[in-house]
Amino acid sequence: MSHYWSQLVSQLDPYTPGEQPRDQQYIKLNTNESPYPPAPAVAASLKNFDHAGLRRYPDPQSKALVDALAAYHGLEPAQVFVGNGSDEVLVHLFQAFFIKHEPILFPDISYSFYPVYCRLYQIEYRRPALRDDFTIDIGDYAVENGGIIIPNPNAPTGIALAPAALRQLLADNPESVVVIDEAYVDFGAESALGLIDEFPNLLVVRTYSKSRSLAGLRLGYALGQADLIEGLQRVKNSFNSYPVDSLAAAAGLAALGDEEYFQECNRRVVASRQRLQRGLAALGFEVFPSLANFVFVRHAGAAAEELYLELKAAGILVRYFKSPRIDDCLRISVGSDDDCDALLAALARILG
Ligand SMILES: Cc1ncc(COP(=O)(O)O)c(C=O)c1O
Repeated sequence: MSHYWSQLVSQLDPYTPGEQPRDQQYIKLNTNESPYPPAPAVAASLKNFDHAGLRRYPDPQSKALVDALAAYHGLEPAQVFVGNGSDEVLVHLFQAFFIKHEPILFPDISYSFYPVYCRLYQIEYRRPALRDDFTIDIGDYAVENGGIIIPNPNAPTGIALAPAALRQLLADNPESVVVIDEAYVDFGAESALGLIDEFPNLLVVRTYSKSRSLAGLRLGYALGQADLIEGLQRVKNSFNSYPVDSLAAAAGLAALGDEEYFQECNRRVVASRQRLQRGLAALGFEVFPSLANFVFVRHAGAAAEELYLELKAAGILVRYFKSPRIDDCLRISVGSDDDCDALLAALARILG
């Protein structure tokens, strides 16, 4: 606290990311990173990068990357917005579309950065409760609102919305921007991308951090009709003209070119998720039906916080949220099969 801080800064409650400890080697299953390295083409693009070119500013429009993303998703370049990680894309869209008279809506159990952005921009919000089985009742969103944001699959539950529910959500809310945060969509859920032509209020947000194994690069993007994208450009160009540096743009472009590697890594993550789900169920955990690269679980016979601490002492990090309704749950990222086996062995020992 400092008397130099503005009143707004004094009132902020900043987001706390999952631990990234450097003190020892942990098996890291707490921040939904990929267990696999980025595509080999990424290493090649960084190795061959013309470092002398770093003296120049990057292209403020990131045109090569935007064109490639548009072609990859079958859209026009004017329908693509890129940013420094999807968190940056999200914060811009909160400012661009959600500062309204009505409160915005997102689930009570959801990505914990959303309320932080609301406080930053002093946006009112309401959080319809998930059902007891942690599914979303789309009917809760058919009310007046200043905008809607839902991760699909949801985080930290991993539970996805059916395509018919996505369509209903958009049809029920023609006056609001509806954001579908697809950070985890590549692990088996159905994307909302096919609805962009039909719904001018839809914005889909994607990240390179999970399925493209590039959390350290900081690259995310939004897809939607051109006038929503222009709204994001207006905010970005009032904030930082160059959010995507030249290295990130080159590596991001290279990653897009290796579809086979991308599909293979995701297929392996899905197979490991199913294996992990079976192993956890066999240990007596209730395992929610995840379509993400993490699983959400609870155990009737063991306190989640204790399990988290004991796993940490055993060199394995998982995510524990001390929040209402989920303080008896753990979120466990899908690691390699070896990582998952180490986790299951440690849990068997702790529970045994
Ligand atoms: C639902 C959701 N959206 C967005 C993000 C942000 O991802 P990034 O900023 O790494 O692109 C995360 C990160 O964990 C997430 O869980």
